[in-house]
Amino acid sequence: MAEFSPSGPPYPLGTNDSVFQTQREAMQENQVGDATQNIEGSEAESSTVSELINMPPVKVGIKLAPYNPTSSEAIEIAIGLLDITEGDIVFDLGCGDGRFLVQACEQHSSIKAFGVEYDNDLCIRANENVTASNLSSQVTIMHNNVLDVDISEATVLFIYLVPEGILKLKDVLLCALERGVRIVTYVFSIPGITPVNTVLYKKSVKIYLYKREEPTNPIKKSA
Ligand SMILES: C[S@@+](CC[C@H](N)C(=O)[O-])C[C@H]1O[C@@H](n2cnc3c(N)ncnc32)[C@H](O)[C@@H]1O
Repeated sequence: MAEFSPSGPPYPLGTNDSVFQTQREAMQENQVGDATQNIEGSEAESSTVSELINMPPVKVGIKLAPYNPTSSEAIEIAIGLLDITEGDIVFDLGCGDGRFLVQACEQHSSIKAFGVEYDNDLCIRANENVTASNLSSQVTIMHNNVLDVDISEATVLFIYLVPEGILKLKDVLLCALERGVRIVTYVFSIPGITPVNTVLYKKSVKIYLYKREEPTNPIKKSA
């Protein structure tokens, strides 16, 4: 991928941003990743033992989606739907190179943003992008499995994972919605939950907003 540039398209729009052709195709890439992949791999064979011992695990946990970056246009729509405001705590669960968090923080200087990414190489890229954008005080990138991360402080979630991945988070997402967290999922919806808004991006890509519906006409109890 071309170098990240927050001001311009960092990749050819319409190619990298394409929807996974089918869910099956996306999941075909699914595999368990851990440090042993590296130790057994050809790359590792040329490493010294001490290098291997000191190496962080390349991938933490199971793959809940392949890497496919979201375009800045789509991120703009997601930010609008999420109605991000001062003091929000924003998480991108599977943050890739951190572009969603960078774009959100460039527009909202008082929010805090956290990216969770299981692939160490992408974490490094995300940290480089955060540093290049002078957002290190606002954005934290965590090399972790989204299934193992505490998101109880989050007020906003952005998720671009495949349905099986989202399904594994469903209980956590339901609790988050209960707490009043706003959630946007990109391309894939949360199975079994009706979004409050759906935006069609390009011809067939959908962006889904979930949030707790407040009663519009609360019934007052008579004394
Ligand atoms: C479709 S990409 C979306 C990237 C980024 N959110 C964006 O919109 O540009 C999904 C990301 O989730 C990451 N991922 C997959 N499984 C994960 C897991 N178990 N924990 C954390 N990240 C994961 C992938 O490495 C990839 O970067």
